[in-house]
Parts: sequence; structure tokens; C-alpha cells
Amino acid sequence: MQRFLTFFLLASGSWAFEKGTAEEDFVRIWPENPVVEFGGSLVLNCSASCENIGLETAFTKVPIGEGPSWRAFNLSDVNHWAASPLCYADCGSEQKKSPKANIIIYKPPDHIKLDTVPKMEVGKPYNLTCWVSAVAPIQNLTVTLLKGAEQLLVKTFEHHTEPEAGPVAVSHRIIAQQSDHNKTVTCQTSLDLRPRGPLLKNISHSISLESFDFAGAPQLHADLSLEAGTKMKVTCDAPQVSPAEEAMFHLWFARRPVTFNTSVMGDEASAQAVVTSSSVGEHELICTVSLGPVTKNAKKTVNVFALPKPVLQIDNSEAVINQTVNITCGADGNASPGFKMQIRDAANILASSNQDQRFLQHAVITQEEDNGREFICQVTLIVDGHTEERRISQNLTVFYGPRTDDSNCPHTLTWKEGSLTSFTCSALGNPKPTVQCWKDGRPYNIGEPQLVQREHDGIYHCNATNQYGSDIRNVTVHVESSKADISGIIIGILVPAVIVICLGAVAFYINRRKCGIYHFWKHQRPPSQATGISEELACLNSNPSV
Ligand SMILES: *[C@@H]1O[C@H](CO)[C@@H](O)[C@H](O)[C@H]1NC(C)=O
Ligand SMILES: *[C@@H]1O[C@H](CO)[C@@H](O)[C@H](O)[C@H]1NC(C)=O
Ligand SMILES: *[C@@H]1O[C@H](CO)[C@@H](O)[C@H](O)[C@H]1NC(C)=O
Ligand SMILES: *[C@@H]1O[C@H](CO)[C@@H](O)[C@H](O)[C@H]1NC(C)=O
Ligand SMILES: *[C@@H]1O[C@H](CO)[C@@H](O)[C@H](O)[C@H]1NC(C)=O
Ligand SMILES: *[C@@H]1O[C@H](CO)[C@@H](O)[C@H](O)[C@H]1NC(C)=O
Ligand SMILES: *[C@@H]1O[C@H](CO)[C@@H](O)[C@H](O)[C@H]1NC(C)=O
Ligand SMILES: *[C@@H]1O[C@H](CO)[C@@H](O)[C@H](O)[C@H]1NC(C)=O
Ligand SMILES: *[C@@H]1O[C@H](CO)[C@@H](O)[C@H](O)[C@H]1NC(C)=O
Repeated sequence: MQRFLTFFLLASGSWAFEKGTAEEDFVRIWPENPVVEFGGSLVLNCSASCENIGLETAFTKVPIGEGPSWRAFNLSDVNHWAASPLCYADCGSEQKKSPKANIIIYKPPDHIKLDTVPKMEVGKPYNLTCWVSAVAPIQNLTVTLLKGAEQLLVKTFEHHTEPEAGPVAVSHRIIAQQSDHNKTVTCQTSLDLRPRGPLLKNISHSISLESFDFAGAPQLHADLSLEAGTKMKVTCDAPQVSPAEEAMFHLWFARRPVTFNTSVMGDEASAQAVVTSSSVGEHELICTVSLGPVTKNAKKTVNVFALPKPVLQIDNSEAVINQTVNITCGADGNASPGFKMQIRDAANILASSNQDQRFLQHAVITQEEDNGREFICQVTLIVDGHTEERRISQNLTVFYGPRTDDSNCPHTLTWKEGSLTSFTCSALGNPKPTVQCWKDGRPYNIGEPQLVQREHDGIYHCNATNQYGSDIRNVTVHVESSKADISGIIIGILVPAVIVICLGAVAFYINRRKCGIYHFWKHQRPPSQATGISEELACLNSNPSV
């Protein structure tokens, strides 16, 4: 108990002594928590109740002022991250030290750099990475990634403990969207040292996102066959593309680039071109569409064919009748294998060639009907299942002498007197024959309407002529008179009737006279009824024979 008490008194006495010296002697450093930029300078003020005030530091120090109880130093080139200066002074026999100053050395970033983002495909993931180099203190740093005005990521580093400047990288994954196209991405840093220090903000250069959507496959519209030397329109469409105006086209035909025009309709881009080739064979037509990172192709094989030019020759396109006329059909120029030739007229095939034969002949012995006949020389080629053809035609002229027949110049004509009629007689022939007619040695105007008279009755001599001959024809015209008809009736009916009446009258008279004699004779003799009747019948019976 005694010992415990003694210990307590001693302990409290020594505490009281120590407290008294502490109140007397002090060494302080000011400011205790300075903030200074890396490489910059700083004034530290040591104050003490003792003598020989000094500053212990690794930095270059220059005293810049002193008073009875203080001394100020300028520290320059503050570039050691872990340095912690302290003040000291000689207090009696011992040296006292101040607490260490807690210097915060800051450094704005040397560089802020955003990694370039490749051309993006809608729906795919991409990393946005921001590199911040040589920044300190990292635990005061905030890195923000912005897409336009939208904050994608805000990253802080509270748990970072090292004071040294170091690089920082932040990364954010995005899924590319159509609306991302042309949006800018920036990386902002903020070094917040408030309230003891500044707030430092920096921003990276912006990068522009490129986001492409190329869902559809390009389509090539072109015929599968093309005649060599001719032109063909070709279009290549890229549907469902975004942004459609950035679709890049390339067209090749027969391994050569083709010039083209492009157009955009909604979300479809298309290229239009006109292609041609002079080399026969199968050629590839290729359309390549590139949109951002995606490239797609469309191909077609075009059969370039050559159809030779038909050449028609008719030996004598103007021939006389019964002449042999040779018709030749030739093929001129470049030709695809497998072509055929034909000689034909409007209705029929007259001659056909074998494949790839360039000459064909057909002979015609000219007939009247061949005048004006059209002959065709035709070249055909089957390309991809359909027939390509080329033809040339020429008409044959056949000259021949006049020919009259019953249809154009009838042998007999019957006209009615008083009617209006014209005499017609024409003839076949090439050139068209002229027809002249004579009646009774006098030329007669044919084809003119005239009032039919009795004098028109008779025989007409007609002569159809052209330079290839003549044809004679006699035409008999009967004129029927309307008066002649009535007298005919009179003559035919009335006259015989009159004659019959007259003869009847005469016969009756003769008969009467005969019977009268009888009656007279009968009066002389006794009458007999029965014989009387029989006599009268006999009389009547004998009457027609008179
Ligand atoms: C240093 O501190 C003392 C008192 O603490 C003050 O009087 C003096 O002006 C200071 N010196 C400088 C240079 O700040
Ligand atoms: C950051 O900003 C500070 C001043 O605020 C400037 O001195 C420094 O050069 C900037 N750094 C970059 C990388 O822009
Ligand atoms: C994005 O970054 C992560 C990790 O940082 C990596 O695994 C991934 O492959 C990156 N993605 C792309 C598309 O670069
Ligand atoms: C994207 O930006 C470029 C250049 O600034 C401009 O020419 C283009 O029209 C823009 N495209 C879209 C889809 O906004
Ligand atoms: C492109 O358009 C111009 C003007 O419309 C036209 O003259 C030209 O022929 C076109 N070219 C092609 C390859 O279609
Ligand atoms: C044409 O020849 C046929 C038979 O050889 C002959 O009957 C006819 O009279 C000739 N025609 C002419 C106009 O020469
Ligand atoms: C028609 O062709 C045959 C055979 O090729 C020939 O003998 C004849 O002389 C030709 N006729 C004419 C009029 O050219
Ligand atoms: C040849 O005859 C046809 C009818 O057979 C006719 O249509 C065509 O016009 C004629 N051609 C010439 C050049 O006369
Ligand atoms: C028919 O006319 C031609 C030409 O005028 C003449 O040559 C020829 O003799 C004439 N024939 C008759 C039978 O009159």
C-alpha cells in the first residue's frame, strides 16, 4: 500500500514537471499540410521557443526571413514524393523537433489520351479507354468518360495510397448503337485538392465514334447475257444500311473497274452503272459494298455473246419471170460459237445452215407471185435459254407480161339499156399493163361511166400491154333493151292469142256451114234423134283437124 502510494506520487510529480516544460518550449512548423505543385516551391515557417531554429528537409532550402522566434525557408524544386520536412530547435541541452509537415505534391496530368475506337458495327462491343499519364495524387483524381453530354463512366481512386504520380487507365465497354454515329467521346480529369488546394480540370481531345449497320446483303440487278459492244444498265443495291450515304461501292466487270453513280433512298444505297464489253465469253460482274468495317459482295456471271451481222444478197433483186435468182445469206463479224443462219420469207423457212456456218444459198425460179416477196436473212443464237436474233430483209421484184383472166376482164358482159355502167378490163402484170380496147375499129374509153344504149352491144377487142408483152381479149357485151321486153311479151303472148282467136273463128264458121248443110239435108228426110246426135259429135270431132 505504501509502495503503491509512493509510486503514484512520483508518477504524478514527473507528469507535472513534463507538463511545465512543454508549455515553455515548443517547435512548430507552418503550414502543417501544405499543397504544392510538383517541382514548385514552398515557404515553410518554423517557429519555436528555443534557439537555433532549423528546417530538416531533402529539398533545396533558402532562408527567407527570421524573427526572434521564427525562421522562414523557401523550398524550391519540390520533386520528392515522400519527403516530410520538420523544424527543430535547441531547447536547453536537447533538440526538439516539430511534427513532420504533410506536404501534398500534386501534378496535373501530362497527357490525357483516348484510345482510338475502330469503326464500329452496330450490336458489337467496343472498349473506350482513357489513358491519363503522370498525375498525382491519384486518390484525388476523378476520371469521367463522356459520350456527347452523357456521362458513361465516373471513376475515382479513393483507395489509392501512393503519393507518386502515376499513369491511370479507365476503360468502359459499350455496345455500338446506330445513334452512336458521329457522337464525340471525351475523357475529363479532375484533380480536386480543395479546400487546401486548387481544383484542376483537364480534358482530352475528343474522338468521334463511327457506328455502322449493314444488315442486308447487296443485290445486283443485271441481265445474264449481253451482246458484245452493246450497253447494259446495272444496279447494285445495298438495303438496310446505316448511314446509307457512307456506303462505298466498287464495281468491276470483266476484271475492269466500272464507273458508276450512287444514290440513297431511305436506308438503301445503290449504285448505277452502264457496262459494256467487246470480248466474247463469260465475264464476272462484281459489286462490293463497304460500310465502315463491313464489306460485302454480290456477283453475277454475264454471258457476253456476239451475233454476227447478217448480209443478204439477192443476185437480181429485179428479175424477169422464169429467171433463177440466187439468194445468199452471209454472216459478218465477230460471232459466238453455235450461231445458225436461215433464209426465209414471211411464211416459211427456205434454207437453214449448220452451226457456225457463215454462208447459205437458196435459188428461186421467179414466178408472178414472187413479185414483192420479202426474203429474210436471219442469224440466231441461243443464249441462256432464249433466242437472240438479227435479221435483214429485201424484197424481190419480178417483171412479167400482161395476163387477163375472167376475174379482171370477163369474156361476156350483160348490160341493161338505160343503166349507168362502165366497161372494165384490167390485167395482171409488172409493170402494171395499160389496157386499150376497140369496138368497131374505134378506140373505146374504158372505165368511164356511161348510160347504156343499144349501140353498146357488140364485141370489144382489148389489148393489155407492158414492155414484157401483150395479152389480147375479146369481150362480148349484150345490151338488154327494156322496150324490147314489152314487144316481146306482145309478140310472144298477144300475137299467138290473136291468131288462135282468128283461127278459132274461121274454124267455127266452116264447121257451122257443114252442119247447116246437114241440118238442111236432115229436114228433107225423116228425123232420127239418135243419129242426129252422133252426126253432131262427128261434126264437133272433126273441128280441130280443120
Ligand atoms: C512566421 O511565423 C511567425 C509567428 O508564428 C510570424 O510572426 C511570422 O511573420 C512568420 N513569418 C513568415 C515569413 O510568414
Ligand atoms: C491540364 O491543365 C493544366 C492547367 O489547368 C495545364 O497546365 C496542363 O498542361 C493540362 N494538361 C493537359 C494534359 O492538358
Ligand atoms: C475490352 O477490354 C476488356 C478488358 O479490359 C477485354 O477483355 C476485351 O477483350 C476488350 N474488348 C475489346 C472489344 O477490345
Ligand atoms: C457525320 O459528320 C460528318 C462530318 O462532320 C458529316 O458530313 C455527316 O453528314 C455526319 N453524318 C451523320 C449521319 O450525321
Ligand atoms: C451518272 O449521272 C449523270 C447525270 O445524271 C449521267 O449523265 C451519267 O450518264 C450517269 N453515269 C452512269 C454511269 O450512270
Ligand atoms: C415459164 O416457164 C414455164 C415452164 O418452163 C412455161 O410454161 C411458161 O410459159 C414460162 N413463162 C414465161 C412467161 O415465159
Ligand atoms: C446461182 O448459184 C449457182 C450455184 O452457186 C451458180 O451456178 C449460178 O451461176 C448462180 N446464178 C447466178 C445468176 O448468179
Ligand atoms: C417488202 O415487202 C413487205 C411485205 O411483203 C413490206 O411490208 C415491206 O415494206 C417491203 N419492203 C420494202 C423495202 O419495200
Ligand atoms: C397490142 O398492143 C401492142 C402494143 O401497142 C402491139 O404491139 C400489138 O400488136 C397489139 N396487138 C394487137 C392484136 O393489136
